[in-house]
Amino acid sequence: MPSILVLSGPNLNLLGTRQPEVYGTTRLADIEDACRAHGKALGFDVVAAQSNHEGALVDSLHEARLVHSGVVLNAGAYTHTSIALRDAISSIDIPVIEVHLSNIHARESFRHTSMIAGVAAGQIAGFGTDSYVLGVEAIVRLVRAGNPSA
Ligand code: DQA
Repeated sequence: MPSILVLSGPNLNLLGTRQPEVYGTTRLADIEDACRAHGKALGFDVVAAQSNHEGALVDSLHEARLVHSGVVLNAGAYTHTSIALRDAISSIDIPVIEVHLSNIHARESFRHTSMIAGVAAGQIAGFGTDSYVLGVEAIVRLVRAGNPSA
């Protein structure tokens, strides 16, 4: 079965208790379960990973290119700062969808800039857990558009 990597960056391990007024009370494990269920319904395995470390996220993107059909990436605050993540996305030939729980464009101005948006296949922001699930959906659609038998 084809597979998708759902990759989360710094501080997202604390979802559920982290700033619930911004991010809600759903835990990352529950978001990942929702992605697994949606992926399974569409015939895709979903593998989830999280790291607070920029280099580890770069490593995960490199490894994903050999194993997965695409990546749903919530890079957290590295979204706004990391040229290394941008370069990693540019260096792999599978689609990456940038996702955010919150609408980064409606928040502080430093969150309006994404270092990775220009090299991602697309960006989904502001739908809470559904941002991740919609990211899975987007990868499936992109993969099927390139390979109708997938
Ligand atoms: C976030 C938005 C980022 O600005 C922030 O640094 C996060 C979470 C989101 O999912 O809304 O850590 O990526």
